[in-house]
Amino acid sequence: MKVSVKVPATTANIGPGFDCFGMALSMYNVVTLEETVYPTNGLEINIISNSKDDLSAITIPTDKSNIVYKAVELLYNYTGQVVPALKINIKSNIPIAKGLGSSASVIVGGIIAANKLLGNPADEAAILSIANEVEGHPDNTTPAMLGGFVLSSAEEDGSIIHRKIEWPDDWKLTICIPDYELATQISRSVLPEKVDLQDALYNAKRCALFIQALHTKDSALLKVALDDKLHQPYRTRLVPGFDEIATSLKDVEVLGTVLSGAGPSILVISENSRVEDVKNTVKSTWEAIGIRSSVKTVDIDTTGAVIL
Ligand code: HSE
Repeated sequence: MKVSVKVPATTANIGPGFDCFGMALSMYNVVTLEETVYPTNGLEINIISNSKDDLSAITIPTDKSNIVYKAVELLYNYTGQVVPALKINIKSNIPIAKGLGSSASVIVGGIIAANKLLGNPADEAAILSIANEVEGHPDNTTPAMLGGFVLSSAEEDGSIIHRKIEWPDDWKLTICIPDYELATQISRSVLPEKVDLQDALYNAKRCALFIQALHTKDSALLKVALDDKLHQPYRTRLVPGFDEIATSLKDVEVLGTVLSGAGPSILVISENSRVEDVKNTVKSTWEAIGIRSSVKTVDIDTTGAVIL
């Protein structure tokens, strides 16, 4: 039996919602799992990328240290079973190490495919919890599975509390992807262990304002709410061009410019009428400092992971 699962990319944090806010985007990976007797070592992993550039600097392991295999193994263990000989194909359309949830996408894809192979023993809560165990934070894995804009909190017992909130159609998402990579591990390593109380309060207030802005579709409030003092001030030095782009986009009157996940991609939220100006401004600002980029306006994916 063979199962394929299509899973969206995600953008996490979205300003103040560090490790909590995330949103699924209309870019997809497909993970296919097949129980087989073919591989001599019990495992064959093939990665098929649309763009050769995606795989240029990052070597993805194709042995049992691969995150998809680890996720699949946790699901089999959860059901009290041993992983059989497996063939895993990953069709990769989400750029790797760009802050777009490529790892969350394949983790979720692997778990859902394995669950289907086993006759669906794990429910949604168990799948989300296993995905978080592999990824380490739920703000990419939860929207990758459920679609939409999602709040998620990983609890001490491993469960994930989550809620989906409707994203206003008028708030367009432009994803700006530079040609360099930034591993989440490196981007997390520059964060302090402890933060100033005033900074923590600043973000708590911004998160509250953000949710109210969403519920009332209040663009002016969103503009204020998108600011952050917990992660971006430490990370933007790893993202050449971020400060210049954020400054230039103030003239374009966007709603906000934030790091996508741990970076280096940048998410710009704007009204539709500003989208072309956003793209031109970001491209030319990066070009001026010698950075090639891909800049595209994407839709929010409201469906999440789908078994094909
Ligand atoms: N919330 C995580 C971080 C997302 O910012 O490190 C990583 O994609």
